[in-house]
Formats: sequence, structure tokens, C-alpha cells
Amino acid sequence: MKATLVIKNIDNLITLKGENRARAGKEVNDIGLITNGVVAIKDDKIIFAGNELPSNIEVDNDTLIIDAVGKTVTPGLIDSHTHVVHGGSRENELAMKLKGVSYLDILASGGGIHSTVKATKEASFDELYNKANKSLDTMLSFGTTTVEGKSGYGIDDFDTEIKQLEVAKKLNEDHPVDIISTFMGAHAIPKEFEDNPDAFVDIIIDKMLPVVAEKDLAKFCDVFCEEGVFTIDQSRRILLKAKDLGLGIKIHADEIKPLGGAELAAEIGCISADHLIAASDKGIKEMAKKGVIANLLPGTSFNLQTGNFAKARQMVEEEVPIALSTDYNPGSCPTENIQLIMSFASLIMKLTPEEVITAVTINGAASLGIAETHGSIQEGKTADIVVFDTPNIEYLIYHFGINHTNTVIKNGKVVYTK
Ligand code: NIG
Ligand code: FE
Repeated sequence: MKATLVIKNIDNLITLKGENRARAGKEVNDIGLITNGVVAIKDDKIIFAGNELPSNIEVDNDTLIIDAVGKTVTPGLIDSHTHVVHGGSRENELAMKLKGVSYLDILASGGGIHSTVKATKEASFDELYNKANKSLDTMLSFGTTTVEGKSGYGIDDFDTEIKQLEVAKKLNEDHPVDIISTFMGAHAIPKEFEDNPDAFVDIIIDKMLPVVAEKDLAKFCDVFCEEGVFTIDQSRRILLKAKDLGLGIKIHADEIKPLGGAELAAEIGCISADHLIAASDKGIKEMAKKGVIANLLPGTSFNLQTGNFAKARQMVEEEVPIALSTDYNPGSCPTENIQLIMSFASLIMKLTPEEVITAVTINGAASLGIAETHGSIQEGKTADIVVFDTPNIEYLIYHFGINHTNTVIKNGKVVYTK
């Protein structure tokens, strides 16, 4: 078999080899580290990862060789929670935030998500496409090869929800980074429904979700379950309907107030519960029991300025599988930089380098239902790989706030070099 691309002399090759599922507890300590490793790729698939190329793999003049001496190689990073397609920006909220006005107070006064809804409605398809395309370029430069992207800036304006999902679909075709879409019409209560939010929930259930499922516009459905947004009962109704229609289900759970979103995620079988800053001990235990992935977003905690972070260590001890994402959005976390999130996860939430790298590779893949094909460097899997200009994974996390990417390979092709 002829290799099309070989990465050789890899100081630290982090394969994450093992079963194609989310990893939890002690097993996360084994990240499949190979020193002085080599990876061979044929077309878009990995054909070998180990110490020495076997004799049945040929290398000739057409094979692209990357010398990774002194470098660290990981699976392509997976940013499994973003709001990448949106209009506008919200730097106008900075002054309010500095005065201590809370995220939920800004939202309740008609700003926050509502102001991005307005900007997203007003933006054309091309404007949304170009803005998100630029963000995907930035994400790719940081080593992200797959992202999840949510709608949710149309809310009751279903055409805008569909526009966001169609922009994501087109970008998925055009851009090297894969986008997996999530429908999140339940992102805020529209002003017109403030006195009767259940009527909006009915519209999502009866009018929107069937169309999203029928037109195959999204793989997942998500709800912002939060005080002043969607209640536990409303979230349950929406997500059970989505599940009925064949969509996977996710939830913005216990981000600010401990409403019981973690418990709900376990009860109804969410693939992930995201944020969880205020999750209860009981909710964490129930998630562990049901294998719900905790998708933690420390950049959001940092930016909300409350000083509260998810209890990541407790979750690890309870054997909840952990994913980590940027939550890239114009309000609560305006950054595409997953490497910064990895540093926050370790330096603030005390996750180990092994836990961090697992969270942004195989566990991120599992939270998007793609662990069979993505998230580890193993024979037969998709050749999404990052070469970092760092001697080891610890250095990548410790030397924070800059970009350590040297080369990104997506589907077996070099798509970014420094
Ligand atoms: O994950 N919390 C709800 N949704 C986003 C923020 C969206 C926004 O503020 O525009 C989040 O934090
Ligand atoms: Fe979010």
C-alpha cells in the first residue's frame, strides 16, 4: 500500500488509541503516547501510527513527508460547542459588564442574544457566510478540524434559523473544517412571547422541529435551559420531541442558576450537557450513571466574570466523560481559540494535560456522534491531524495565549501551515 503522506520523527505522538467512545475516569490517563513516532496516511485515511513503518507501506517520490522532530502530533481538535454562524458583535456590552451588569440582566433588558438576533436577521446569507468562513479559518489555524455550530439567532423568525443552518451546510461543503449543525430555536424567549412562553414552545415543537428533521438541516437539537429562558419542563418537551424525530439532543444546562439541567440531561438521554457551572452534586452523579458527556466551556466562565467555573475535578472523580469547547459566540465567549480554552481548563479548572487532550479529541468526537471515524489517530480513521510546534502536550497548555500550530492536516491534505 502506498502512503500519500507520512509524518516522521514525531517526538510526542498522541494517538488517543482505544475504543471509539467517550473516555472517563482513570482510563483518560492513557492517551496512547508514542515517542519517536510515525504516522502514514493514504488519501483521507490513517493507515499506520506507531514507531516504525511496516514493510507493506510504500513511500516514494510522490509521498509528502513531514519531519516532526521536536514536535507534538495530536488528532485534529474538535470544538463541539459553538455558535459560529451569527451576525454582528457585542463589544457594546463591555462597559455594562465592567459595571457589573449580569449576562441575564442584559438579556432581560432586550440586549444580549436579542441584539444578535437582530443583527443575524439583518445579515444576508453571504454576510453570514463570509463572517463564519473567517472564523473557521481562525479555528483551523488553532488546530480545530471539526466544529459544532448552532442556530438560535432567529428564534421565532424561523427563516433566520433556517438561513443560519443553510450557511453552515454550505460552509461544511466549501471549507476544510467540518461543521455539524444543531438547531437551537429555543435560545431565548422572543419579546412577543414573554407573557406566554409556552406558546413559543408549541411553535418550536409543532412547526419548526418537524421541518428541521424533514429537511435534514441539523443533527442535534439544543435548548438554553436557564432561569428567565426555558424551564426544565419546556426543555424536556422540546428535547423529547426532537428525539422522537430522530435528532440527537443536547442542553445548555445549569450555566448560571442550578435549575436541574444536568438531572434532565440524564433523565432524557442527552448525548451531552453543556456549561454545568452550577450543576448539582446529584446531577453530576446522574450524568455519570447515564454516560452523559459534560461539555465544559471555561472561556465562557472567564468572560462572564462571575468567578464560577464548572466543578471539573469532581466530574472526573465521579467518572463523567468530559469534553471542552470554545462556545464561540458574540456574547458570552467571543473567541475561536481552542488552545486558550485548553489552557483555562488546566490552569483554572485543574484538568490534567491528559484530561484536556482527551476532551478536545475523542470525547469531543463522541459528543458529536462521530467517534467511530474521528478523534483519534488509529488505522482506518479519518486523517485529521495537527502538528504542534511544542516538545510535548504540557508545553502546549502551559505556554498559553499564543498559537502553537505548525501544520494542520484535514482528510489527509495539508490545509494550514505556519
Ligand atoms: O452558550 N447561554 C446561551 N447561549 C450562549 C450565548 C449566546 C449569546 O450570548 O449570544 C452560550 O453562552
Ligand atoms: Fe453555547
